[in-house]
Amino acid sequence: MEDVPALGDALPLVATDPRWLGIALADLDAVHADHLHCERKAAQSALSLIRSYPQHTDLVTAMARLAHDETRHVVQVSQLMSRRGQPAAYDFGDDYAAKLREHIRKGEPSLRLDRLLVFAVIEGRSAERLQLLADALEDPKSRELYASLATAEVRHRDIFLALARDADPTGWRARAAELAAIEAEILENRAISARIH
Ligand SMILES: [Fe+2]
Ligand SMILES: [Fe+2]
Repeated sequence: MEDVPALGDALPLVATDPRWLGIALADLDAVHADHLHCERKAAQSALSLIRSYPQHTDLVTAMARLAHDETRHVVQVSQLMSRRGQPAAYDFGDDYAAKLREHIRKGEPSLRLDRLLVFAVIEGRSAERLQLLADALEDPKSRELYASLATAEVRHRDIFLALARDADPTGWRARAAELAAIEAEILENRAISARIH
């Protein structure tokens, strides 16, 4: 059986542009406001996979647990915002995820594989950036929160990769590498802003 680090190696995401951290730290309110909705959307995405694939028992169980984690993250980010005296904000949309989703192929079995891998990419990118914030924030409680969230998102990335491997044992690695390259191109062509993605 394949071990967990080997799963993560299958998704070689490029490093975030070093300018992102400074831009994010300069407007933490914007980052937190966006982050709250990232966690909400992660929960909804996990539940949407249950709607689409109820016959896949392992997927249903894993996604129900993952959605549970993500709703807890919504609570944690919301509490952080309250502590900072920061009001909640509406979601201004997420063209990063939308651009990734454009590469999800139609028709099964490609559709399930690609949905799982796109979510793995988003989790992997979130984990990297939450860890960058954890290492840079001054407030000890915020550092601790962001470090714990980064750890959770790495675990989520690997859950999606394991489900992708189950969905297509021979093709998942090649498609993961393709989507990692596609994500690099998406990042390259969009402005850096005070958001998680
Ligand atoms: Fe999360
Ligand atoms: Fe997650």
